[in-house]
This record gives sequence, C-alpha cells and structure tokens, in this order.
Amino acid sequence: MNIFVVGGAGYIGSHCVRQITAAGHRPVVLDSLVCGHRQAVAPDVPFYHGDLADRSLVAKILRDEKIDVVMHFAAFINVGESVSNPLKYYGNNVAKTLALLETMLAEGVKKFVFSSTAAVYGIPEKMPIREDAPKAPINPYGQTKLDCENLLSALAVANGLSFAVFRYFNACGAAEDGTIGEAHDPETHLIPNVIRAAMGLQPSLEIFGDDYPTPDGTCLRDYVHVDDISRAHIAAFDRLGNSGAQLRYNLGSGRPFSVSEIVKAVEAVSGKKVPVKFVPRRAGDPPELCADNAKARAELGWTPKFGDIGAIIETAWRWHSAHPAGYGA
Ligand code: UFG
Repeated sequence: MNIFVVGGAGYIGSHCVRQITAAGHRPVVLDSLVCGHRQAVAPDVPFYHGDLADRSLVAKILRDEKIDVVMHFAAFINVGESVSNPLKYYGNNVAKTLALLETMLAEGVKKFVFSSTAAVYGIPEKMPIREDAPKAPINPYGQTKLDCENLLSALAVANGLSFAVFRYFNACGAAEDGTIGEAHDPETHLIPNVIRAAMGLQPSLEIFGDDYPTPDGTCLRDYVHVDDISRAHIAAFDRLGNSGAQLRYNLGSGRPFSVSEIVKAVEAVSGKKVPVKFVPRRAGDPPELCADNAKARAELGWTPKFGDIGAIIETAWRWHSAHPAGYGA
C-alpha cells in the first residue's frame, strides 16, 4: 500500500517510515521541517517539504502518489508550551488536522491513522488505564488531541472515514542501528535528559518532585519503544478496510517505572553515574500513568518486542552517544 506519512521526519514518524518500508509498503513523507529532520528520512523515500494544511499540495500528493492510507504525526507536543500558547496548539493540532481531513475526503481517501496521547485521560482514577476510561485532559495539548479524536468519530459516521487512533504513553528509544532517534529542541523528555546528564552534556538531571504518592516518591510512567509503537500502526492497516471503522488503542508496555528507576537503568546501561538534583514538582504531572494494553494485544496481535527497560535504554544510549548534538552533528 502507499502510505502518506504526515510528519514523517519527526521522532515517531521517522521510525514509522522505516517500519512501513520493512513491512513491504511504500511510505511517502510530508514534513514542514519545523520540528522534523530531513536526515531522519532515507534519501530513497519520496519526500515533500510543506505544510499539512496546504490543500493544493496535499491533494496533488494524494493523487500523484495514489495514497491508500494517511498517517498523521505532525503535532506540537510540549505540554507546558500548550498552556502558555494555546493558539499555537489549537491552530496546528486542530485546525491543520481539520484541513488535512477535508482534503483527504475531497480526494476520496478515507483511511486515517492518528497519533493521540495518554494526555487525553488527564489524571485517571484507575490504573492501569483502559481505552474506555473517562477523557478529561488537564492541558490544551491533551485537549487538542481529544478534539481531533472527536472529529474523527463524527467523520466516521457522516463521511465513512475509517480510522485508528493510538494513544501513546511515554514513547522512547531509538532505531536499533542507532542511526535515527529522539532529537527535540528543547528536549523536555526524561530518558534523553538522563542520558545527556550521564554524558556530561548538562550538569545534572533535574527530578521534578520526590513527594508523590508512589513507592520512591517520583512519578511513575509507562515507557514504550518507538519501534513497538510503529509496528502497532502498521498492524492496524488491515482493520481499516470497512467504511466507518473506529479503532482506538492505548500503546504502552503496561509496566510503570519511576523517574529514579529510569536514572538507575541509564546508569546500568552507560556505566556512568548520573548527577541528580531534586526540584519541585512540574505543573500538570500526574503521579502515575500506565496503560492497559490488552485491546491492542487482542485485536492487533501486538506484543511489544522491547519488554525490558534496559534494552529500550540501550537503543537510546546508542543513538545519543553517536549523535550528541542530535541531527546537527
Ligand atoms: N522528568 C523529570 N526530569 C526531566 C524530565 C522529566 O523529572 O528532566 C519527569 C517528569 O516529571 C515525569 C517523567 O519524568 O514524571 C516523564 O516526563 P516526560 O516529560 O518524559 O513525559 P511526560 O510523561 O510528561 O509526557 C508524555 C508525553 C507527552 C504526553 C504525556 C501524557 O511525552 O507528549 O506523556 O501525559 F502529553
């Protein structure tokens, strides 16, 4: 199949492009390169530099490349920034997604795979989190993703759109060959920051809060390898066949790790001591997030290949040690 990967030069998108090729499909990438990196996409993959809301460009790609499925990874993801600049998040994550969907439907392309987030659940009452848990985002980022999910549900009924929504927990790790990986600017995510502290690229890892109601006082999160996330997306293609299919899946490993456990795991992989500094809680961090991934396992036959946090961190360590300045190296 011909798969249009919007945001295919970003962190998760670029790993997904590789898995699409490995699965025998043909990826076609569109990326504005505002957050993505041209080097993250192989030179032999068709690449368009542009905006997902550029209707004439997107319509031309859908026609010329005979696109069967659209995958959409092109979102802003920084929770704190979404609080300080909601217009940026609604404008990009909602308005531009709407433009993309309008163009798709006008061109008769009706299969869509959407990157959503555990942030749609807000601060859940029950752990692990099932897909049918209440949706109560506590920041504009999570709300923009939920708004898109709701739009997709309406389009499935009104226009016969078939979609798969994936709610990612903590995406992490890098390609096993160490050639592509996580490179955000600024980097806010835990594992890259622990590794940067281990490498001496930042003076210490700041741990946001040690007074949470968790066994060691630091937050618990569900870390899932980016290649496992990508494989779930591809497994969904076969289930998009029926007009109006509505699929929603959590993507997490189902096992939570605390911030302090991640620090220890990076120390074990790297053989280096990570200097840490405890600082106050970061606003909006729930104490614990952990996925119930039974639905993805049962319906997609999905099993995370990276069951071990050490194995996940090894891939991240390989990428960051070879590319201390990210793609700028
Ligand atoms: N943390 C630190 N120090 C750091 C970075 C993070 O202590 O330098 C802590 C955070 O407080 C949190 C944990 O490490 O407890 C994980 O933080 P991340 O920023 O790596 O990830 P989040 O859980 O905040 O965010 C992830 C996704 C978001 C998504 C969110 C849903 O990256 O896109 O889950 O809640 F919105």
